[in-house]
Amino acid sequence: MVSRVIPVERFDLVVFGATGDLARRKIMPGLYRRWLDGQIPEGSRIIGAARSRLDAAGYAELIREALAEFVTEAELADARLEPFLSMLSYVAIDATGTDGWQDLRAQMRDDVVRAVYFSVGPSLFGALAERLHAHGITTPDCRIVVEKPFGHDLASARALNQTLAAHFDEQQIYRIDHYLGKETVQNLMAVRFANILFEPLWNAQFIEHVQITVAETVGVDGRGSYYDRSGAMRDMVQNHLMQLLCLIAMEPPNRFDPDAMRDEKLKVIRALDPVASGDVVRGQYAGNGGASYTEDADNPESRTESFIALKAYVSNWRWKGTPFYLRTGKRLRARVSEIAITFKEPPHSIFGEAERWKENVLVIRLQPDEGMDLRVMIKEPGPGGMRLKDVALDMSFAEALGEGMQIPDAYERLIMDVIRGNQTLFMRSDEVEAAWAWVDPIIEAWEKRGDVPRPYDPGSSGPEDALMLMHRDGRRWREIK
Ligand code: BG6
Repeated sequence: MVSRVIPVERFDLVVFGATGDLARRKIMPGLYRRWLDGQIPEGSRIIGAARSRLDAAGYAELIREALAEFVTEAELADARLEPFLSMLSYVAIDATGTDGWQDLRAQMRDDVVRAVYFSVGPSLFGALAERLHAHGITTPDCRIVVEKPFGHDLASARALNQTLAAHFDEQQIYRIDHYLGKETVQNLMAVRFANILFEPLWNAQFIEHVQITVAETVGVDGRGSYYDRSGAMRDMVQNHLMQLLCLIAMEPPNRFDPDAMRDEKLKVIRALDPVASGDVVRGQYAGNGGASYTEDADNPESRTESFIALKAYVSNWRWKGTPFYLRTGKRLRARVSEIAITFKEPPHSIFGEAERWKENVLVIRLQPDEGMDLRVMIKEPGPGGMRLKDVALDMSFAEALGEGMQIPDAYERLIMDVIRGNQTLFMRSDEVEAAWAWVDPIIEAWEKRGDVPRPYDPGSSGPEDALMLMHRDGRRWREIK
């Protein structure tokens, strides 16, 4: 398949936290792939900034090693590797002090797009913003990229927004939720708004319920100290799952443009009912000979949840009465992210009672095996009369779009959008705050009543109570497999 790559303008991209895990694992490999694809023009520069005493050559070596780990052999063997590494430079900088700032200022050019990536903990955002501003590094059209977690609750997210707003306009700030950069997540918008087929049925009159699942097989080993202060609610639900819910539930925006999109998503978040305490289940993976969360997090007393299942309602004309079930967890049976839309029964069956009708379900598989499948009823072949059977109209993107199709990593897309100055796939300040405003009371209620998460076996589908959450409504979770 021929990819249609439109090169971005030449840029200077400063990456704070340049020696960190995200830079090594995602940012640099993503930039390298965009370079191989011809999207990054010659003359662009990537300036690593971190505390370590390195020079440009030392930094290039570090990134060469990172690429060896995170890109394919063929990509690594490409002759364009060396020119990519020569685009890198490095500044040793003290984010909270005075060292390195003049040096960084001296490296910035005035005639190219300028962007600064904060790939550091949120406690450094304020110090970085202040110094960048004070040294004249962030010109009015310079873009600031901010990683999650964006706050720990509404109050801290507000404080962060204020800190950033003291130095930058909202149009300069790119808050990352990497789920929005995933091809298949963007595809949700194409499915909904580029087809006439689904939209007339896309409401409470025809949709029985929606299930959103993001199941992981990994645990929290390695990042326990961060995760133990967050838990699945803050780490996954407040951002990724709520964004998926918004894309499913939003009204069609007038245009695919940043504010039109974000206005509609914000309306969904604001229309969410508070969640009843009986409609949330927290879980924590626990032992049985396998991994246990408390060990992984190195906190034997931990009550942090590694699993969440909840039922949410969007109170507006389109969705009143249709439940959205959200579920995410670590160390589950399989890695699968999907959205399943279950439609209601036809109003009348002409085939009589004996022919059990099965629901039409549209499943959008986000990862792995990206694709869509629609369960429809057909006649079972054979002379046995009119027997019905449900089958899948199944489409895998890899098959439909050809062998050579590469699904780019979310970060590749998002970083290029920053350079292009397109904020559509980034979260606006009011959106982030509204999401926290919905999540905070749920967390506060647990804290108030000293809630203890339900244990579940690693490799399972989560705690029993999560199954009950749907059973008692006469519904079933889709299998995690
Ligand atoms: C991150 C979370 O934002 O998303 C992680 O902090 C989680 O805990 C990850 O593992 C999942 O992302 P992906 O792209 O692997 O689905």
